Amino acid sequence: MHPDFTPSASGPIRDPRILSVIERMNASRNRPPRDGLGPDQGSTRDPQDFAEFGFSIHPDQGDLIYLLCRGMGARRVVDFATSVGMSAIYFAAAIRDNGGGQMIGAELVASKVEVARRNLTDAGLAEYADIRVGDARETLRDLGGPVDFALIDGWPLPEGPSLARQVIEIVAPQLRIGGYILNDNAEPDFLDYIRDPANGFISVTLPIKRGTELALKVAEPAKAA
Ligand SMILES: C[S@@+](CC[C@H](N)C(=O)[O-])C[C@H]1O[C@@H](n2cnc3c(N)ncnc32)[C@H](O)[C@@H]1O
Repeated sequence: MHPDFTPSASGPIRDPRILSVIERMNASRNRPPRDGLGPDQGSTRDPQDFAEFGFSIHPDQGDLIYLLCRGMGARRVVDFATSVGMSAIYFAAAIRDNGGGQMIGAELVASKVEVARRNLTDAGLAEYADIRVGDARETLRDLGGPVDFALIDGWPLPEGPSLARQVIEIVAPQLRIGGYILNDNAEPDFLDYIRDPANGFISVTLPIKRGTELALKVAEPAKAA
């Protein structure tokens, strides 16, 4: 296993069935060659061209998701995006250990959703996951009620507002006050949104990966005049 992705020996998840799936997924991580073919490097950004690659969250981010969700008693959470199911496993584990609920996942690439469902099944967590196949900008419009926590991961777009920015604008109104947002890629326009006091969040940049933004919703957004 790449040393960067070795889970901490003292992580909060203790269930050996879940840990063995996380370990297997970390051991089989692969990335596209660094020759201009990565989704953030130019030639193609079509997610379908990267169906073989998970781009999954770091184990420290997963441990943080699990711990915060346990602490707040999260029952309804959002996983954008789900890819092959790494972040989904941490969410679903916390929901199960909180007594039940649902993780709503979003993923564009259907073959990745199949892999994610298999990983969740192997971890014994499939019943806690509702993975919606399609464009998150559509599938996350109606979350069916307030949510406690959302991961806003992302994917590079050739132009215009980042996907993280577009998705936070859809999810934030559906997050309860006291709910958390975790962001992986520090997209500048996402950070502008989350740090604008008018949008009702306070946040901190954690020294995990290249900087992981953790935001807490403290108020509903101020109404535009
Ligand atoms: C960085 S990965 C997510 C990793 C995942 N959170 C994990 O821990 O395994 C980003 C994912 O976003 C997906 N994606 C890209 N555009 C999307 C869209 N518009 N709607 C839903 N998913 C999208 C990609 O296919 C890719 O799997």
